Amino acid sequence: MLYPVIWHDNSVRLIDQTRLPNEYVVVEIHRSEDMAEAIKTMIVRGAPAIGVAAAYGMYLGAREIETSDRHEFLLGLEQVAQLLRSTRPTAVNLFWAIGRMMQTAYETLGNVEEIKQTLLETAVAINKEDLQTCQAIGDHGLAALPKNPEKLTILTHCNAGALATAGYGTALGVVRSAWRENRLWRVFADETRPRLQGAKLTAWECVQEGIPVTVITDNMAAHCMKQGLIDAVVVGADRIAANGDTANKIGTYSLAIVAQKHHIPFFVAAPLSTVDFQLADGNKIPIEERHPVEIYQIGDTVITPSEVEFYNPAFDVTPAELITAIITENGAFAPSDLLKSAR
Ligand code: MRU
Repeated sequence: MLYPVIWHDNSVRLIDQTRLPNEYVVVEIHRSEDMAEAIKTMIVRGAPAIGVAAAYGMYLGAREIETSDRHEFLLGLEQVAQLLRSTRPTAVNLFWAIGRMMQTAYETLGNVEEIKQTLLETAVAINKEDLQTCQAIGDHGLAALPKNPEKLTILTHCNAGALATAGYGTALGVVRSAWRENRLWRVFADETRPRLQGAKLTAWECVQEGIPVTVITDNMAAHCMKQGLIDAVVVGADRIAANGDTANKIGTYSLAIVAQKHHIPFFVAAPLSTVDFQLADGNKIPIEERHPVEIYQIGDTVITPSEVEFYNPAFDVTPAELITAIITENGAFAPSDLLKSAR
């Protein structure tokens, strides 16, 4: 099993996801600022993994604060939280994990050293819980998949795998469970322009596990569906509003539309930490815009004329009505029943 974020020997080790699949490099993070940079530059990415990384980032920041005064310590920790919150806006797991760490700090009685110790324990707990959550999502997802054909071809978008979580994955967790139970024929992985998480990361993860995988470019999905090659679509999520509207990697929305057109079930697999119950619908989900270099340059080569403008939203929002079910650690729910899933 792959673990993209681990606590080891007083520092955090991250698999550098910007270098896969060509190089497998593990970076050591000792300071909260370096963790913020790692999240921003996508050394660590994927909503749940960002949450776990931010939780450790909070502890790293806490241990840098040199005071024994509780009030002063909490003020310093708020600044660390602010730095980590400013890294990426869409994945709510980031804010959820930071919120949980802040709450731990406020609620822990005792001196500053004791608060620091509890913060480390909480970060480790968030990490462990996410792994268990993903395994539960995988098994609930397997139960929710179509019964026919016996061996399914599942299309996925971006990377919602072990690399994007504490391990096992959400959408790829469902794939892993299906593979384990002999219910999977193969995975179709959308390449996922512009950052190519599908071609680089999902494909790499599948190869590591011996799961058969076919990479297609994003614009081939409709054609593959029309040809009858796809039995189900399973994707992850960065933020799900209370009504089930789901923000995920750019291109997910169009995939959901073409899946509906071809009567192919469309599943979202995500932990409850990805649900933002404060937002009634998806309209107010903040969508990250990234640098246009991701569009105009492939490798070292600029591919567009210099006079053009660019628009590079990293996520889109799929309306709940296009989603067959949302799979959480508590089971598979129709988007309209999402509130029930939290109980
Ligand atoms: O920009 P990224 O690579 O962080 O985007 C990741 C996704 O969109 C994933 O599908 C989502 O975070 C779910 S990961 C289990």
